[in-house]
Amino acid sequence: MSKVLVLNGPNIQRLGIREPSVYGTTSYDELVELCTKWGADGGFDVEVRQTDSEAELISWIHAAADSTTPVVLNPAAFTHYSYALRDACAQLTAPLVEVHLSNPAAREEFRHNSVISGVASGTIAGFGVDSYRLALDVLVGLIADSTDSQ
Ligand code: DQA
Repeated sequence: MSKVLVLNGPNIQRLGIREPSVYGTTSYDELVELCTKWGADGGFDVEVRQTDSEAELISWIHAAADSTTPVVLNPAAFTHYSYALRDACAQLTAPLVEVHLSNPAAREEFRHNSVISGVASGTIAGFGVDSYRLALDVLVGLIADSTDSQ
């Protein structure tokens, strides 16, 4: 089974507790279970991780670049200002899908810009935990395309 990493940035482990009117009531543990199931449905072995540390997230992206592993990434607040994370993501050669639970474009102005989008294969935002399901669905096709073109 091909491996997919689902990586989450700061505060995402607070899902279900943190601003439920914005991010929903599904807990982080439930998100992990759902992603594992959705991945398996698409034929992937999904590993879900979360960190509040920019350095740790960057080290995971470096490892994904070295192993050509596809990534679904919710960069959380790093989305809006981490050029270091963007530079790491630019090194990925397998597909990268950026996801957001909320729709940052419909929120405060500082959330309108993503420094990650320009180096992602695409972005899915605004559908709560279903953003991750859609990202994993889309990866099936993206991986098939990238394998065909090799
Ligand atoms: C988020 C949106 C970001 O603006 C915010 O900082 C987050 C979560 C989302 O999933 O909607 O932490 O990435």
